[in-house]
Amino acid sequence: MDISVVTGDITEVEADAIIVNLFKGVKRPGGATGAVDKALGGAISGLIDDGEITGKKGEIVSIHTLGRIKPKRVVVAGLGEGDKFTLDTVREIMGAVSRHLRARGVKKVATIVHGAGIGGMDPSGAAQAIAEGSLLGLYRFDRHRAENDEDKGEIEELHIVEVDPAKVPALESGWNKGKVMAEATMMARDMANEPANFMTPSHMADVARQVAEESGLELEVLEQEQMEELGMGAILGVAKGSREPAKLIILRYKGDQDDPSRNLGLVGKGVTFDSGGISLKPAANMGEMKGDMSGGASVIAAMGAIGRLRPKVNVTGLIPASENLPGGSAQKPGDVVKAMNGKTIEIENTDAEGRLLLADALSYGRKLGLSSMVDVATLTGAIVIALGHVTSGAFGNDQALVDRVIEAGKAAGEKIWQMPLFDEYKEQNKSDVADMKNTGGRPAGSITAAQFLSEFSEDTPWVHLDIAGTFMTDKNRGYMTKGATGVPVRTLINYVLDSAAS
Ligand code: BES
Ligand code: MN
Ligand code: ZN
Repeated sequence: MDISVVTGDITEVEADAIIVNLFKGVKRPGGATGAVDKALGGAISGLIDDGEITGKKGEIVSIHTLGRIKPKRVVVAGLGEGDKFTLDTVREIMGAVSRHLRARGVKKVATIVHGAGIGGMDPSGAAQAIAEGSLLGLYRFDRHRAENDEDKGEIEELHIVEVDPAKVPALESGWNKGKVMAEATMMARDMANEPANFMTPSHMADVARQVAEESGLELEVLEQEQMEELGMGAILGVAKGSREPAKLIILRYKGDQDDPSRNLGLVGKGVTFDSGGISLKPAANMGEMKGDMSGGASVIAAMGAIGRLRPKVNVTGLIPASENLPGGSAQKPGDVVKAMNGKTIEIENTDAEGRLLLADALSYGRKLGLSSMVDVATLTGAIVIALGHVTSGAFGNDQALVDRVIEAGKAAGEKIWQMPLFDEYKEQNKSDVADMKNTGGRPAGSITAAQFLSEFSEDTPWVHLDIAGTFMTDKNRGYMTKGATGVPVRTLINYVLDSAAS
């Protein structure tokens, strides 16, 4: 889909459909929607009076213009209540309306700049949200389908229409940034949707290599022998049950050579399939565990976007990648492994593998001298019980860093809720035979998992995001599409951009 900014009157554009909007409860629309209403001889206000258009959030009403104006149809998108309106509303309506129009074979779409009028949003943020919403809402994963299996028609053009030429530069830079953000998110979705027989640790490393080439990043991949030399017994223990070799993928972006001491770390869990290992998971929905590398995919995709946007800061991405399978040489409950930082871990449950991979990756991040680390992982089923599918959970040892990540999430429309890390929870990780065990029992399962990680981030400022409830969705909604969501790619990018700016 080609995106462009067009100056002029929305009623005069050459398009199969134009998108205008309405807040809930508004009877006589103003701005661009008002102009279209007028050009249509009051058709929109008539439908409002008849109760067919209410402005309720998510409402999509299509009006055929029958030659009264150039565009063939007008879509009135409901924005909901004015005081709840945010840039995320713009993303949501653009996602849903774009899918609606694509399903009807529409090729050429024009939209007004939602939010820039009475919404009071700045034009660049609004244009960014328009691009993100539309691109992400139109995402589909059909790599493994026959070409003629279903209608693969796509919207070809999206014009962002603005009357005031002074706003054009802001709109241009806005949608360009939105395109980078959306493409990174879609890349993470592609990786997580990819079946595990394709998306192996080695393939993840290949994807990272391609991203590095395209975005001007450095790539290094630590192989099992190197991990052995480094004493990464926790990662290697997880990999033992699989014939696919584990990889520690490292991506480096050097945006601030003057201050090499400021080097932000992004760490992502890359379990390309989590069967549970010897502590085997039940069969139902086990296929979803092809997405257990979503944290790692988010980091690879965010690093690519950072390379394209080039902020003045250094960033290192660390992705420990492995399968978790119950092969003949798999690690067993009761085994003890030694992590790179010298701490020993009793394996109480081989299905608590994510924290093992992250343990060595976080220790390695400390060895590299990273100034802070944000890890992202589909870590615990318990976070789904605590927070459902609405928000990711955040844990950390540095409140300013936690706040910064949560703020970055807000700007992205990716909800993040902080969870406590009280010392009392550490008790549950105590082992009779080792320094700690890899499970802390059923109570507060997400918190004990985070406490386990804190043994490896030690005194480096650190935030852990548990995305087990948000990495996928079972239905299309707004700009979210069924399957992998690409959460929290845009949060990570915003976090790095904000850190560079301050
Ligand atoms: N990858 C899973 C967590 C998960 C669950 C992600 C549901 C996405 C959706 C993780 O490796 C896991 O198996 N965690 C266990 C830990 C337990 C054995 C302490 C869990 O949550 O059950
Ligand atoms: Mn597991
Ligand atoms: Zn897992």
